[in-house]
Amino acid sequence: MKYAERMKRLGTETAFEVLVRARQLEAQGRDVVHLEIGEPDFDTPKNICDAAVKALRGGYTHYNPSAGYPEIRKIISDEINKTRGLKTNPEQVVITPGAKPIMFFTILATVDKGDEVIYPNPGFPIYESLINFIGAKAVAVPLREENDFRMDVEELKTLVTPKTKLMIINSPQNPTGGVLTHEDLEEISRIAVENDIWILSDEIYSRTIYEAKFESVTQFPHVPERTIILDGMSKTYAMTGWRLGYGVMEEKLAAHIARLQTNSNSCVSAFSQMAIGEAITGPQDESAKMVAEFKRRRDVIVEGLNKIEGISCKKPLGAFYVFPNITELGLKSKKLEEYFLENYGVAGLAGTSFGAYGEGYLRFSYANSVENIKKALSRIEKGVADLKK
Ligand SMILES: Cc1ncc(COP(=O)(O)O)c(C=O)c1O
Repeated sequence: MKYAERMKRLGTETAFEVLVRARQLEAQGRDVVHLEIGEPDFDTPKNICDAAVKALRGGYTHYNPSAGYPEIRKIISDEINKTRGLKTNPEQVVITPGAKPIMFFTILATVDKGDEVIYPNPGFPIYESLINFIGAKAVAVPLREENDFRMDVEELKTLVTPKTKLMIINSPQNPTGGVLTHEDLEEISRIAVENDIWILSDEIYSRTIYEAKFESVTQFPHVPERTIILDGMSKTYAMTGWRLGYGVMEEKLAAHIARLQTNSNSCVSAFSQMAIGEAITGPQDESAKMVAEFKRRRDVIVEGLNKIEGISCKKPLGAFYVFPNITELGLKSKKLEEYFLENYGVAGLAGTSFGAYGEGYLRFSYANSVENIKKALSRIEKGVADLKK
């Protein structure tokens, strides 16, 4: 049997593949420290689980509107207005199973075959995968360590052509933890407005931020009407397995995206949407505690990595990843990923899992206990010492 041509262009997220290999090693009795997967290790706060259970028992077990329940869309729209200073209405919100479908739906609804899409590299691998999948041209903006892994806006300008339809930005960023400054965002907004380009602003880590202050590109004039804000519950409330996310965009686009949802998932599970209401409007202390704990872990891992000769690591301002430079170790990123996993039981990801410009780096997620992070650090140190023998 033959498969569709486009399947050759579909990429993946290697974190899941490394996780499978790590689990195989564990099944053989090996001990592995998991620093590969990007999800909080905390449980979803109890009040949120209780709200979902109550909804389940209360009959929220049926189909519901494709864009989501109006009252939950209103809660999201109010939250976006509060946190981004916007004036959105509930009609602009589409609730999706996880935030990821907002990427797919946005690209399907705004980009044609042959158009160009600018995206960060290294970056979340699904951007590049989906751009290629639909037959558009993926145009990488390199994120460089010397620029604190922020987009270089001067370089960005040179990448825009009459075919540029969409620009994807992500701040705080996966995999580098980089955060775009006010000035970066202002310049990006100017480029988008002058060239009539859509912006997909992936703000999933908007609350996982440390010394820096979160800012959205939507604060600038004429930007809200061309921007799709992607956010969700996965990272902020430790709800990755619930699959709850959303997009906020101009009303007409929201209607298109809701139609894409009708054509694919129909709608998001009814009772779990009720948990969104509780998560956003209920107490925020659990979520704040998680961020404080991530910051403590970040400091431990950054300090530990910088003590290892041959590795250097910038202190990221947001998200829960470090992106250490490993060029001095003399192995390609993918080889080093395998070396640490197979021989020392440390699961991390090659920087190249996030695009070609990730060569020379590894990504470690520090969504793991300080005890496990310290264990991983001493194993990495041993691995590096053995390399030099
Ligand atoms: C930058 C970025 N955007 C979006 C997502 C997807 O989030 P969700 O699990 O809600 O689909 C992730 C998940 O790792 C991410 O890192």
